[in-house]
Amino acid sequence: MEQKKIAGEKAVEYIKDGMILGLGSGSTAYYMIRKVGELVAKGMNIKAVATSKSTEKLAKELNIPLLSIDEVEKIDLDIDGVDEIDSDFNAVKGGGGALFREKMVANLAKEVIWIMDESKLVDYIGEFPLPVEILPYGYKHTLKALRDNFLNPVLRLKDGKTFVTDNGNYIADLHIGKPININNILKTLNNITGVLEVGLFINMCDRIIVGTDKGVKVIEKK
Ligand code: 5RP
Repeated sequence: MEQKKIAGEKAVEYIKDGMILGLGSGSTAYYMIRKVGELVAKGMNIKAVATSKSTEKLAKELNIPLLSIDEVEKIDLDIDGVDEIDSDFNAVKGGGGALFREKMVANLAKEVIWIMDESKLVDYIGEFPLPVEILPYGYKHTLKALRDNFLNPVLRLKDGKTFVTDNGNYIADLHIGKPININNILKTLNNITGVLEVGLFINMCDRIIVGTDKGVKVIEKK
């Protein structure tokens, strides 16, 4: 937890007065959001778009002024967590099920920072099951299509019931194994009706902040 905390807290140093922020989701983003709350309490002029309902709830508790995604044209800085990332900053996200909103917010951002503990840094992505958001309508057929393409989908459950995203959809976790062929996977998934979004985040991030036992490391995009 300490690694996540120092990474999350370091990221707020990149926030400037007047910015519109993207607020990520998950346990590392939690520490960042708490610090953003402190900046707001000190009088900094910040507004934010939340990437999940749980982030929205936390931001409201901390009195962080929120905007909906449709109220903004651009986001100045998006700070979010990650599930797995390689040295080219190709990442897998969606472990918490918020990939759709996280990707939409990241796409609008002029600058993206990902925060993490060092376990997230890998040589090749693919060990963490790749989350894809799928439409509930016809989901059994979507799962079959994923299986037919050898993507080993597992429908995500929570407390014994089908996990439902903030958008009312389901998640299929693809157990593909590493290394994954990013282009092939994206091409295959794009052709499966029922797949709404994929937890592969490619060419999106400008800087990562990694908490380690020796302190925090900031790594810029190559
Ligand atoms: C949610 C995500 C999160 O960003 C990711 O799961 C973060 O993980 P952690 O809780 O370890 O910071 O993609 O959909």
